[in-house]
Amino acid sequence: SSSLNSIAVAAGKKFFGTATNQDQFNDASYVDVMLAQFGSLTPANVQKWQYTEPSQGSYDYSQGDSFASYAAENGKILCCDNLVWYQQYPSWIDSQSWTAESLSEVMTNHITSEVSHYKGKCYSWNVVNEAFNDDGTWRENVFYNTIGEDYIAQSFAAAAAADPNAILYYNDYNIESPGAKATAVENLISSLKSQGIKIDAVGLESHFIVGETPSLSQQQQQMQAYANLGVDVFVTELDVRFSSLPPTEQGLQQQSEDYQASVGACAALGSKCPAISVWDFDDTYSWIPSTFSGQGDADLYWANLTAKPALAGIESVL
Ligand code: XIL
Repeated sequence: SSSLNSIAVAAGKKFFGTATNQDQFNDASYVDVMLAQFGSLTPANVQKWQYTEPSQGSYDYSQGDSFASYAAENGKILCCDNLVWYQQYPSWIDSQSWTAESLSEVMTNHITSEVSHYKGKCYSWNVVNEAFNDDGTWRENVFYNTIGEDYIAQSFAAAAAADPNAILYYNDYNIESPGAKATAVENLISSLKSQGIKIDAVGLESHFIVGETPSLSQQQQQMQAYANLGVDVFVTELDVRFSSLPPTEQGLQQQSEDYQASVGACAALGSKCPAISVWDFDDTYSWIPSTFSGQGDADLYWANLTAKPALAGIESVL
């Protein structure tokens, strides 16, 4: 049968991709499914700041390079992730005190170095990740607290200067349907555009819960609102977890419908939603159980690599 990626491409999408980690690549059955089904790879960890600048001014791209080479050798598009986030940044940042100017310099040096290093290899960059609280206020983190909201504009400007051809996007969760946080992201996009800062897209993480996922029409409405601001929309980290385990047969049907709401909304948006990625596809490697205790079975495949109903479900709405 056709792969998920080829179905997405036939429907006009650029790819259907997955996040992954290179230490999973010695699992041959996992790799078989990954290479057969997905058109792009996103490193779930190794391009994050804590890995790439372990001490100030000393860069280490070894793991990211190895991941990028693997993607290229296997004909996969590389989605690069991420540059500025309140998690997984190096500890030396927290162990010093900064002025707005000195932290700005550190932040833009990091972005310039990393984006230049990968110039021409990244289809897209997740430039700033998760800058808002769920109520739409700015998330207090070292960047916001020291530099102020301009840290976002500074980050996008530095990324654009270093690789003018990469798609640059802002990425967050709980922004997939109308609400205070989605409005905050709309305002950010408008503000960056009015300052002449390049922002090409918004990434909707789409980490959903079975039975609590925003409806197809809510997601379509919100995607359209972003598109109306002149940015593309990517579904970047899709998974739909069960809040209690084990799932029932009915729960698996609901999970399929919930996956279909995201993929269907992206399909309905046409060329303004160029691509979809899941945040891994095999429950063995899902990030969910270690983050949300007692929850899981969020991925398209069971841990034994048999497909859940959601896989056929999303294929049917692409
Ligand atoms: C997760 C990785 O999958 C984990 O391996 C790591 O320990 C923590 O980060 N939202 C994001 C991703 O934007 O970067 C996160 O990735 C998952 C939630």
